[in-house]
Amino acid sequence: MAEKIDFPKELLVFIDEWKVKPGSLIMILHKTQETFGYISRPAAEKIAALTGIPLARVYGVVSFYHFFKTTKPGKHRISICLGTACYLKGGGDALEEARKLLNLAPGAVTEDGLFSIDEVRCVGCCGLAPVMTIGGDTYGKITKDKLPEIFAKYR
Ligand code: FES
Repeated sequence: MAEKIDFPKELLVFIDEWKVKPGSLIMILHKTQETFGYISRPAAEKIAALTGIPLARVYGVVSFYHFFKTTKPGKHRISICLGTACYLKGGGDALEEARKLLNLAPGAVTEDGLFSIDEVRCVGCCGLAPVMTIGGDTYGKITKDKLPEIFAKYR
């Protein structure tokens, strides 16, 4: 039997409001990802059922936009900025080092489920480049040497 998922009321109301508007699928997917951190198979099926949009189309949009994730992220979501300012100041090196330290392949989650890393584009604080965020915390002017200490706080 297919796995079921419960959507919180707020998400159901949002879907109900949006499903009749053009471009609704993207908005609904954004809101769903914001709610669960990713778009699981049961969530995609539920969206299809609630909106009448074929499941294949839901998946077509999810796979077209790299922004949407189909696997559960780590408990602590690390985002490393690779926007121009951050990239020029070593964002790429920081990303590589973070992956090495956490033994993470791109898109993967650590075995303990604690961490996943996303590459992001400009998070709006270029003066602090290179920037990394973990959940709601922002770390500026990060260097390779600072990473182990920062990650240790979340273990
Ligand atoms: S480029 Fe990284 S915060 Fe703007």
